[in-house]
Amino acid sequence: MSKKTIAVVGATGAQGGGLVRAILADPSGGFAARALTRDPSSAKAKELAKLGAEVVAANVNDVDSLRRAFQGAYGAFCVTFFWEHFSADKEKAEARAMAQAAKDAGVKHVIWSTLEDTRKWLPITDTRMPTLQGKYNVPHFDAKGEANAFFSEVGVPTTFLNTCFYWDNLIHFGSGPKKGPDGKLAFVLPMGDKKLPGIAAEDIGRCAYGIFKRPDLIGKTVGIAGEHLTGAQMAAALSKALGQEVVHNAVPPDVYRGFGFPGADEMGNMFQFKADFEEQYCAARDLAFSRSLNPQLQTFAQWLSVNKDRIPLG
Ligand SMILES: NC(=O)c1ccc[n+]([C@@H]2O[C@H](COP(=O)([O-])OP(=O)(O)OC[C@H]3O[C@@H](n4cnc5c(N)ncnc54)[C@H](OP(=O)(O)O)[C@@H]3O)[C@@H](O)[C@H]2O)c1
Repeated sequence: MSKKTIAVVGATGAQGGGLVRAILADPSGGFAARALTRDPSSAKAKELAKLGAEVVAANVNDVDSLRRAFQGAYGAFCVTFFWEHFSADKEKAEARAMAQAAKDAGVKHVIWSTLEDTRKWLPITDTRMPTLQGKYNVPHFDAKGEANAFFSEVGVPTTFLNTCFYWDNLIHFGSGPKKGPDGKLAFVLPMGDKKLPGIAAEDIGRCAYGIFKRPDLIGKTVGIAGEHLTGAQMAAALSKALGQEVVHNAVPPDVYRGFGFPGADEMGNMFQFKADFEEQYCAARDLAFSRSLNPQLQTFAQWLSVNKDRIPLG
């Protein structure tokens, strides 16, 4: 029987890369991976081709290129790239182009990698956090959540996948422990004693692979996480893995927003939202369900055991 092709947006990146590797690691699973990239000649693209992926050129800004790349595919994994441009409006345009292209190509199962529109829970008129980009609490959440409607409106069969904080942010996103004036390492997480759902980025793609094997999840919204941990629990796990004390620094969200790095206001709002709506946000990311999609799902300690030496300790 011929394999079902999954076209993977962001295949050279974290989420899409995990999915391509999950498909290729299961040669008898009945699926083939088509990796979308802007540059098939890049080293990362060539690496995926070497592993057995079909590599095709596409750009999420160009709906025709997406249509061609999705043609003949059974499934499409759709993800946007907020941190490339920091624009909610651009992110929505990217999502709209992917939804339209998937519909036009007759894709049977789309996974849209999304997040909640926080404004459904926290009206924009609420004054606890600054409004960003004119109409958002957390632009990269709200834009994704708003974009859910594009997939429903065009009528493409879609699973809405709510992802969560990558622990890999400790390596690549400057979220790792930093040395304070007292010489001690501090892990900054402005969420008090509230729990942060987190995941190894590679596990998002593995969970997505599990979803493609479950057509009953079409039309459903699902959420995934590897663990729900407080900042203190994460600091304790970091201390153990690194062999030196890491303290949790629970600065208030206002202080975090003032840190001044690009996106600090956005991240401050995001963490405040996750803390204020801890119960609902965690409940939307059930751990047993995530593990049912991906039996290899890592805990934070497991992720640290493999990745601890890659975390820059500033
Ligand atoms: N960091 C977190 O904790 C976290 C948590 C939840 C959700 N997210 C969301 O995850 C999304 C990013 O996903 P990711 O982390 O998997 O991305 P990533 O690792 O940064 O990878 C992005 C990949 O996308 C490709 N790309 C960039 N612009 C493109 C374009 N215009 N057209 C086609 N491909 C393009 C690039 O590949 P080529 O150069 O090969 O084209 C790149 O390898 C963001 O929207 C973010 O909000 C992040």
